[in-house]
Amino acid sequence: MLGAAEAEHAARVRAHLVAAIAAAGGWLSFERYMELALYAPGLGYYSAGARKLGPGGDFTTAPEISALFGACIAKQCVEVLAMLPRASILEIGAGSGRLAVDILRRLRSANCLPERYLILEVSADLRARQHACLCDSVPDLLDRVEWLDAPPAERFDGVVLANEVLDALPVRRFRWHSTGVEELGVALDGERMHWSATAASAETTRECRRLYAAASSAWDEGYSSEYCPRLGAWTREVTRSLDRGAVLWFDYGLPRAQYYLPERHDGTLICHFRHRTELDPFRHAGLQDITAWVDFTSLAEASREAGFDLAGFTTQTYFLAGLGIEQEMQAMAAGNADAAVRLSQQARRLMMPGEMGEGFKAMAWLRGLELELAGFRLRDLRHTL
Ligand SMILES: C[S@@+](CC[C@H](N)C(=O)[O-])C[C@H]1O[C@@H](n2cnc3c(N)ncnc32)[C@H](O)[C@@H]1O
Repeated sequence: MLGAAEAEHAARVRAHLVAAIAAAGGWLSFERYMELALYAPGLGYYSAGARKLGPGGDFTTAPEISALFGACIAKQCVEVLAMLPRASILEIGAGSGRLAVDILRRLRSANCLPERYLILEVSADLRARQHACLCDSVPDLLDRVEWLDAPPAERFDGVVLANEVLDALPVRRFRWHSTGVEELGVALDGERMHWSATAASAETTRECRRLYAAASSAWDEGYSSEYCPRLGAWTREVTRSLDRGAVLWFDYGLPRAQYYLPERHDGTLICHFRHRTELDPFRHAGLQDITAWVDFTSLAEASREAGFDLAGFTTQTYFLAGLGIEQEMQAMAAGNADAAVRLSQQARRLMMPGEMGEGFKAMAWLRGLELELAGFRLRDLRHTL
């Protein structure tokens, strides 16, 4: 059941989407629908006031589960920051601010604080939540933190990082037939939104044929999936001003050959509403998160084109193990048996294959630096891309 304010918000979002579909002649691409449902000013899931993360929200992320995640990322940052005399960190999509707090705390204890901790965030309410979280937890470091509306204009050295942001970039849905490709979008039946197909453009058809060629075996008739046309442009844009340093991406996803396996015949699109998984992206529009897995091969192609060198690709489990999550646990527990049990339960959630361990990946890129990164030394999956 929706509360009165939620129901009223949902009605406004729906009216906006219905008007957009009508204005587009009765058919709107799913990519545009997802963009509006997540980012329409004052209405979209990320632009308006839904709680999103944590209890009372819709989903939980690794930093919300445990400070161990941020501590390990901070250790990875130390290796990069130590080589750069005046370095900054740019975090994209900082959620509740938890990850920023955990990274800054661990960097302070390593005596390796960045000059500035920049946060690029689209959501006004999450910005306010991040500010409050940093103010409560690391008030003495707040003067280093700066919120940005757009990627930094001036060049900087350091680290760019993001956890679970790429999966929110709008995707284009398609359906494969040997006779031609269809693009999936949304149409109206009265006020009801539903899936509707139209012949794909030449550009979409070309891209789908490329994905088909990368799949390990042939797709069946009617195979549906998605790809993210703006992944390359968006990642290039947010990393453009990094002169020397590393880019660290954390997200659920796969190399292309595994993403487009014939048995994954309906893609990876999924929604999150109050900690439940929803399959219908047209329900709860504006109130639920809509995401799709990341095609890490596509990310690799774009990052190489942007002049980065691939420094590592591995699972979250091996990333955390490579950075010594065991030692971090012992240090955080500080001999307290209850804390040790709690931390080891958290580590299991981050690392077990059935939880976040296998599905979530870590990927690192370097520009202007040569460096072996500890998070990627235990299991190298670069050859799978
Ligand atoms: C799923 S949450 C992850 C939050 C946090 N990184 C964590 O791991 O807890 C996605 C975050 O990215 C932000 N976001 C979504 N799209 C974005 C975009 N295009 N640019 C910048 N931030 C974005 C959201 O507002 C939110 O803070």
